[in-house]
Amino acid sequence: MPVPFIDLKRLEPGFLERWAEKCAELTETTQFVGGPEVTRLEERLRERTGAKAVVGCANGTDALQLALRAAGVGPGDEVLVPDATFWATFEAPVNVGARPVTVDIDPVDLQMDFDLFVKAAEECRPKAAILVHLYGWGSGRLQDFRSFCRERSITLVEDGAQGFGALHKGNSLFKEAQLATLSFYPAKVLGSCGDAGAVFAESEELADIVRRLGNHGRTTHYGHGDVGWNSRMAGFDAGFLNLSLDYIDDRIEARRAVTHRYRGAFEEIGVPFAGPPDDYVENGYLSVALPGLETRPALEVALREKGIGFGTVYPGAMSRQPGAKAWLAARYGGENADRLCRGVINLPVFTGITDAEVEECINVFAEAWHSAGTVR
Ligand SMILES: Cc1ncc(COP(=O)(O)O)c(C=O)c1O
Repeated sequence: MPVPFIDLKRLEPGFLERWAEKCAELTETTQFVGGPEVTRLEERLRERTGAKAVVGCANGTDALQLALRAAGVGPGDEVLVPDATFWATFEAPVNVGARPVTVDIDPVDLQMDFDLFVKAAEECRPKAAILVHLYGWGSGRLQDFRSFCRERSITLVEDGAQGFGALHKGNSLFKEAQLATLSFYPAKVLGSCGDAGAVFAESEELADIVRRLGNHGRTTHYGHGDVGWNSRMAGFDAGFLNLSLDYIDDRIEARRAVTHRYRGAFEEIGVPFAGPPDDYVENGYLSVALPGLETRPALEVALREKGIGFGTVYPGAMSRQPGAKAWLAARYGGENADRLCRGVINLPVFTGITDAEVEECINVFAEAWHSAGTVR
């Protein structure tokens, strides 16, 4: 039985009917850009996460750029970023005129390595840093990152694109962040019907700057106190997201059950894998098996042959991307990120995946792993 890596059409019974009604309402009230639906979404996200303020925007990449600009990051500044992440984390500092410095990852939690981060910060004196909460959990040293950055006046932007619904010591990752960002790209845990994003800020003042920058620096309709750009959220995205929030707890619970099941199977058959540090509850965004770079090619062939979708999130370290050359200010650490990128494999996890599909993925993967034994 083929299983897709992701299928975004498996919505709950009644969802499409409610969405059709919402589309009619949004059209009749011409809530095409901004409006009450966006305000309601911001309020619901604020309540749910416990953050002080939330601003909707056009996508998760813009959210990072808005956060950096709001923190005053610009030309001449350096920004520390992890070497294993999505390329947007690397692009954001460049797009605000700053230069990224990559920091290698911790091979256990797969997040930016705190000790290397401290070394990089002491040598580079960065204005800001982006800590990415990758794979649906975060760093085991989260508190250390936050305290260190506050002590050194380094703005810490937490890229939570993959972290919606994950809990750290019982709290949302967005609750105590100075600035944090979210992507509502459709494949995310809370995905929209298009591109959308949000910035979480520790104060209303900071949120106001973000809101102004994302709306042409407006102070009045034709008064511009800043040079910003257009990063407003569409009403249809907010409508889809508000509707999805009604289902999100069950979706996250189901995703967690799938990633637990995969981990149980990996343990049983002896495949190395990664999972959240003890003080986290993951959101089930991705399953993370680490078969290694020698074995992965054989697994890929076997999964493809049986029609099992898989991911390699992400296949290349930031500092090794051809596009990094012109912008990379420095690179700290060794090859952990590169090894992860060349050896990781992700099995399907999505809303509506069936038990039988998960079982099929496990069986095909286990068989392929045993056959690949000769390669290891
Ligand atoms: C870690 C990370 N940062 C940033 C982004 C960018 O978000 P968007 O695609 O909404 O611009 C993503 C989305 O894929 C991501 O996974």
